[in-house]
Amino acid sequence: MAILEAENIFAGYGKSEILHGVSMHLEEGEIVTIIGPNGAGKSTLLKAIMGYISIFNGIILWKAEDITYLRPDQKVRRGFGYVPQLGNVFPSLSVRENLEMGGFTAGKEATERGIQKAFELFPVLAESAKKKAGTLSGGQRQMLGMARALMTEPQLLMLDEPSAGLAPKVSEQVFESIQDIHEKTGTGIIIIEQDAYHSLRISNRGYVLVMGQNEFEDRADKILANEKIREAYLGG
Ligand SMILES: Nc1ncnc2c1ncn2[C@@H]1O[C@H](COP(=O)(O)OP(=O)(O)O)[C@@H](O)[C@H]1O
Ligand SMILES: [Mg+2]
Repeated sequence: MAILEAENIFAGYGKSEILHGVSMHLEEGEIVTIIGPNGAGKSTLLKAIMGYISIFNGIILWKAEDITYLRPDQKVRRGFGYVPQLGNVFPSLSVRENLEMGGFTAGKEATERGIQKAFELFPVLAESAKKKAGTLSGGQRQMLGMARALMTEPQLLMLDEPSAGLAPKVSEQVFESIQDIHEKTGTGIIIIEQDAYHSLRISNRGYVLVMGQNEFEDRADKILANEKIREAYLGG
């Protein structure tokens, strides 16, 4: 059963419409990758689902509840987690403080448990607990961003280009972490990616978004085997 269903979403900034009727869904525990050229509206779709921008038309259902117009904090309470592409950590706070901020809605004990879980999931963060987030490497910073989002124990984790700007080896580690998160928490995950190859490798399904509209969707393995799509969106 789909836990998230976004149906025919029209959304944008001010009066400027960027998404012209986009639909997607996520089954419980699935990993789904959304690919597409720069400017297609991928980040905009996540912001619309999360409640950061106005939805002009369409409907978003979460476990069959209409949540289209809920605020981001209301969506977090229902189990939404979101890691934006930029600014997903506070550089001047320590790793531990970043995690505490991520759990501030959960109370002190739950936060402490969450931090221990995060340190088990990302040992490198445990080693750097007292370091300022701004001194972390790009890959570590991305892991901290994800660990922070996990503090509220989301059932839906949305990741905006988790591998952006990372060296190929580091990018691979980030996708291994994402797979690890998935196995250990069972959370559903939506990943937006430019470098879609690794992302599709760990996904159940994928969507191609072009100019604010659905272009194509299929099982991830089929997308990876599709020559036309590979040539157009996965660098051949
Ligand atoms: N804050 C914003 N205000 C106005 N327009 C924006 C804003 N953010 C993105 N856009 C526009 O929305 C379109 C889609 O952008 P985006 O969703 O970031 O694409 P993608 O993530 O697929 O690269 C682009 O034309 C971009 O210029
Ligand atoms: Mg984007």
